[in-house]
Amino acid sequence: MRPLRDLRISVTDRCNFRCTYCMPKEVFNADYKFLRREQLLNFEEIVRISKIFVGLGVRKIRLTGGEPLLRKDIPVLIRQLADISSIEDISLTTNGVLLTEKLAQELKEAGLKRITISLDTLDQDVFCRISDVRADVNQVLQAIGHAESAGLAPIKINAVVKKGVNESSILPMARYFHGSRKILRFIEFMDVGHTNHWKLDDVFPAADIVREIRKEFQIRPAEANYRGEVAKRWLYEDGGGEIGIISSVTQPFCRSCTRARLSAEGKLFTCLFATKGYDLRHLLREGADDKYIAAVIGSMWEKRDDRYSEIRTSETVLLPKVEMSYIGG
Ligand code: GTP
Ligand code: 5AD
Ligand code: SF4
Ligand code: SF4
Repeated sequence: MRPLRDLRISVTDRCNFRCTYCMPKEVFNADYKFLRREQLLNFEEIVRISKIFVGLGVRKIRLTGGEPLLRKDIPVLIRQLADISSIEDISLTTNGVLLTEKLAQELKEAGLKRITISLDTLDQDVFCRISDVRADVNQVLQAIGHAESAGLAPIKINAVVKKGVNESSILPMARYFHGSRKILRFIEFMDVGHTNHWKLDDVFPAADIVREIRKEFQIRPAEANYRGEVAKRWLYEDGGGEIGIISSVTQPFCRSCTRARLSAEGKLFTCLFATKGYDLRHLLREGADDKYIAAVIGSMWEKRDDRYSEIRTSETVLLPKVEMSYIGG
């Protein structure tokens, strides 16, 4: 059985961006039925579930969304999670726009170890085309600065690459972050959810990303930092640091997948590409005790044989998979 090490918790299904590969505007519009407040797990429930997961082996927690910083009082939640003994790592994925200097400090003081900021390009026009909102690349770059000043290290920058949209941003991004001690990671465009009109033709493959970087930099592959790391690590030969490439389409990594995902309304998913989750909120709110909930989660994990990325076909792409903004990025 694969160990259960990594819990990713979505704290909201809402976002202030409308990235075309994640929450396309034509679907996520004014009529879209986002979760209502009472449907979301409250902090007490999130902490209780997290403690149960820690009892089952989880050592890493990542808060995601949607945009997790849209949820009020995130530092309060981080502090409560950081107080759980045995938790080794708490991180958060954000698009950065709401990350002020003050909030970055508060998150750090509350116990957040590190942060991952999504940024797909440095080009303002391309940025607007992808995020489909009126935001400024400089706001994201400033957020990265705030995270750095607060000591949220290492900072990772996640860039999804979509063919025909931003492959020309690969080299400028590599240049910008080279030598900065931030870890830039390029991610293949994936068929998560069923609203982003994914086509294999739109994937800019990992091998091409490496080729693109090698036009200007010498890089060599490095060992993974930990078992089940999704990003393949590469080091600049000149000591300029590390980059990562996440190739879940062309070189899937399901065999080493140690992740469980909890949606904002408390459903447990054992795969990013699942069509159904298991309702843990119901158990929490109907008075089940921790031992019972642990047994349910444990048996789900034992049974799991997910390997979506390894068996992806033109048919699986059409499955009514849950959206990434709901399940957590
Ligand atoms: P670290 O703990 O820093 O190693 O973070 P991470 O790389 O595990 O997490 P992050 O959220 O930064 O993941 C980056 C991207 O990889 C996500 O946004 C997804 O696009 C993709 N990804 C993460 N986990 C999975 C997974 O379990 N399966 C697949 N197919 N893709 C994943
Ligand atoms: N393909 C790959 N990554 C995606 N993300 C969202 N949608 C996709 C997709 N279709 C990831 C990005 C972003 C995070 C919040 O979710 O890494 O940074
Ligand atoms: Fe929001 Fe991130 Fe999805 Fe973009 S990729 S819409 S920033 S959750
Ligand atoms: Fe894990 Fe599913 Fe991603 Fe494979 S596709 S790595 S099983 S989350």
